[in-house]
Amino acid sequence: MIRKAIIPAAGLGTRFLPATKSIPKEMIPVVDKPAIQYIVEEAAASGIEDVLIITGRNKQTIEDHFDKAYELEDILEKRNKVGELATVRKPAGLCNIHFIRQQEAKGLGHAVLCAKSFVGDEPFAILLGDDLITGSKPCLKQMIDEKERLGGNILATMKVDDCDVDKYGIVDGKRYHERVIQVNEMVEKPALADAPSNQAIIGRYILDSAIFSILEGTEPGKGDEIQLTDAIKKLMDTQNVYAYEFIGKRYDTGNKLGYLKATVEFALNREEFREDFYTYLEELMGETL
Ligand code: G1P
Repeated sequence: MIRKAIIPAAGLGTRFLPATKSIPKEMIPVVDKPAIQYIVEEAAASGIEDVLIITGRNKQTIEDHFDKAYELEDILEKRNKVGELATVRKPAGLCNIHFIRQQEAKGLGHAVLCAKSFVGDEPFAILLGDDLITGSKPCLKQMIDEKERLGGNILATMKVDDCDVDKYGIVDGKRYHERVIQVNEMVEKPALADAPSNQAIIGRYILDSAIFSILEGTEPGKGDEIQLTDAIKKLMDTQNVYAYEFIGKRYDTGNKLGYLKATVEFALNREEFREDFYTYLEELMGETL
């Protein structure tokens, strides 16, 4: 059983300036919900009971979002705004949410290490906030089910185009079954010529707690940052690591184009906007083509 998850959210958001100058990138809404709420909802829908969000300076609004909003709730209650009240209360009721601050930006591996005492001695999940994933079964739940079948450590992966391999951790290994590879090679953001495959790690992991002692001894790697990928590579010496090609669609909301695509598709998936928004897009395309 996987009960705990961590969400690293300490990054500076340099791919999304100027918005991220004063707004945490995790709080930028997709339609009407901050990106990080979708991530916590995925965790909760996958059976996670406790989530630790690793924040940094200037990220207080994330804590506010998952807290009570007494004044607002009081006003909505008095005005009998039932729907709005439920919307405001939802984030705080998803699961137990904890916070810790990463004091220095030393990379994803270092951020994960901040969760050592929260996780203790059990397998846990990591969800990266830039990756929004839709599908009929939550991506993390698919991975938890695979973990139950296979044991070991599970990384969510998907095939990416050649031009994108240098943006991801890339894995290769022995095909285990249709959607699973037993990983024996892993490299963080390789040049295309050095990439062992096109199978990229997407921001969902289920890892054994042994990763923490490995991270403590991991030297800075690519970009002079402590890389989670390097630690997982070392974990492969003693444990099985599986790459699971998840079923669903992933959006990289950390970059502007990915964010725009997510906004359009999430809006089209919303009952109250679908028809009008679709018509609008059709008209717009007719004008521009
Ligand atoms: C991180 C990981 C990388 C992974 C990616 C998924 O990179 O280091 O291995 O493929 O997330 O989104 P980042 O995008 O934080 O630079």
